[in-house]
Amino acid sequence: MYYEIRKWRPEDACALSKILNNNKITDNLRDGIPCPYTEVDALNFITEMINSDPNKVFAFAVCCNGELAGSIGIFRQDNIYYRSAEIGYYLGENYWNKGLGTYAVKKACEYVFANSDIIRIFAEPFARNTASCRVLSKTGFVYEGTMFSNAIKNGIIEDTVIYGLLKGV
Ligand SMILES: CC(C)(COP(=O)(O)OP(=O)(O)OC[C@H]1O[C@@H](n2cnc3c(N)ncnc32)[C@H](O)[C@@H]1OP(=O)(O)O)[C@@H](O)C(=O)NCCC(=O)NCCS
Repeated sequence: MYYEIRKWRPEDACALSKILNNNKITDNLRDGIPCPYTEVDALNFITEMINSDPNKVFAFAVCCNGELAGSIGIFRQDNIYYRSAEIGYYLGENYWNKGLGTYAVKKACEYVFANSDIIRIFAEPFARNTASCRVLSKTGFVYEGTMFSNAIKNGIIEDTVIYGLLKGV
């Protein structure tokens, strides 16, 4: 299988809307994603990514054999945290457990460390998100701690964990 991450294209909107209409994905993400997630919603997101500041937002389409498989983004923080960035990602359910998440996280982090002054990338999955935690461990992220009762998702109090990856370590 041929994996790549690449810049977003407006024509990805149809495939993206199909991928993200899935509770098994959105139950692991922050709130704010429209449900149902229409092609217009997807195009709005893609347009925002394409027009964002290239030194603050590093957003990529994740592809498998030339087909859109998911999304990954690394977002620079501000104020005293401006050399730190948060990573977020998801893949269509058909693509899970094939190593694509690990590939995408590795490539996106390599890109950001090589093309910006960012020195730290972090992720904050739900503590129950074993697959995401495993991907982070496999790509060199270090578990930094658990934040208990830190979030409410679908009305349930959730623990979140924090993982960090430092440039050059
Ligand atoms: C998180 C996600 C991107 C992972 O992508 P992926 O391509 O499936 O990840 P990989 O195949 O590279 O690795 C997954 C690892 O988790 C493991 N895993 C998956 N589900 C698991 C489970 N329920 N229990 C234990 N391990 C699990 C796999 O065995 C694999 O580890 P291994 O290589 O040691 O065997 C994908 O599951 C996804 O999109 N989930 C929904 C959205 C999401 O959670 N996003 C992250 C928000 S922080």
